[in-house]
Amino acid sequence: MEPQFDDDVQDPSFTDVPSSVTPEEPATRGRRTFTKSHKLDNVLYDVRGPVVNEAARMEAAGMHVMKLNIGNPAPFGFRTPDEVVYDMAQQLTDTEGYSASKGLFSARKAIMQYAQLKNLPNVGVEDIYTGNGVSELINLSMSALLDNGDEVLLPAPDYPLWTACVTLAGGRPVHYVCDEQSEWYPDIDDMRAKITDRTKAIVIINPNNPTGALYPKEVLEQIVEVAREHQLMIFSDEIYDRLVMDGLEHTSIASLAPDLFCVTYSGLSKSHMIAGYRIGWMILSGNKAIAKDYIEGLDMLTNMRICSNVPAQSIVQTALGGHQSVNDYLVPGGRIYEQREYIYEALNSIDGITAVKPKAAFYIFPKIDVRKFNIHDDEQFALDLLHDEKLLIVQGTGFNWKDPDHFRVVYLPRVEVLKGAVDKMTRFFSHYRQ
Ligand SMILES: Cc1ncc(COP(=O)(O)O)c(C=O)c1O
Repeated sequence: MEPQFDDDVQDPSFTDVPSSVTPEEPATRGRRTFTKSHKLDNVLYDVRGPVVNEAARMEAAGMHVMKLNIGNPAPFGFRTPDEVVYDMAQQLTDTEGYSASKGLFSARKAIMQYAQLKNLPNVGVEDIYTGNGVSELINLSMSALLDNGDEVLLPAPDYPLWTACVTLAGGRPVHYVCDEQSEWYPDIDDMRAKITDRTKAIVIINPNNPTGALYPKEVLEQIVEVAREHQLMIFSDEIYDRLVMDGLEHTSIASLAPDLFCVTYSGLSKSHMIAGYRIGWMILSGNKAIAKDYIEGLDMLTNMRICSNVPAQSIVQTALGGHQSVNDYLVPGGRIYEQREYIYEALNSIDGITAVKPKAAFYIFPKIDVRKFNIHDDEQFALDLLHDEKLLIVQGTGFNWKDPDHFRVVYLPRVEVLKGAVDKMTRFFSHYRQ
């Protein structure tokens, strides 16, 4: 082993290090330090950033922090259906080895059938790729697509992993605005105005995180029209497609674009409350002939990561078939529905806060009257709320929203808990001035 810290050991000052200094300290006194890649300098991932770190510090110091920041259903008492767990246990010994790189045939067949039900055109088993969550596949598909300076149209606000992965792949994220005045639907004129000769693709997140919006067919048709005019690929993140309320139906944009090349993403993290098992997928559809070379790239990267978690793949067929227990949460009397009703009314009753009613998923993205509270830095606002009320939310700029006038609430906790959170917010906003 390389004796790289010998200098430190022989350094007489080493023995003088006060007892409060952590054991790692000597390593930083060597000649060489290690910095992160410059590629990360422009990557924003504040949903797990400084405010969350501060909350962790407070918890380590023994404080109780109420968390409305992460869309992870299990800690809030949402359990995966028993049958899913049972079926995984049955197959554990059969899933000890690697699977085919795109995934088990049975899983991909079930996803293919799901794609048929959603009218995705021209999809065979070979067009389905499983991943360790949608997250891995977003990263993989952006890495396979982008050369330095290539542009991708992304929503603002967005789920920030998309923007981060475009940046990491050397691409340039270009944000089109989603319009709060129009149910948070994408502003098509803004989208069109931001297309250049470097634009390769449009990303949509439908249903949306962080707004909870669900895009109707007419809006999707307009996006397809833009993509058609400019020969763009469409990437559609539909991880919340089975969490839709009010009797509405989710339409996959790919079903409206048989002549274009589309990639559609979904998974079981949210619909089956198994975010920890890590299983998601992407489906290639439509005009695959125009993307032959890209697909070769996807296949190479897919092979390089060998395969996704095989035990989690083994329950896709069970999960997607039969009764969908998540539906019980989404109707009147169901937890997600009732929590949505409560949080929507309660937030709107706070002076200076307004929010559009979400139609899907379990997020709401309220607007803050920044003049009233004199807010000019929303990370500071999130930190102040955390310190004053021990309540953790994510500030709007964490979702690539440019103005400091929004925040996201995850309404997964039970109504009794949400009431406590709203009391805290009401108290905070009754006196807060930045
Ligand atoms: C819009 C969106 N896409 C993707 C993901 C990642 O999901 P997964 O657990 O499948 O990686 C999330 C998780 O919150 C999400 O909100």
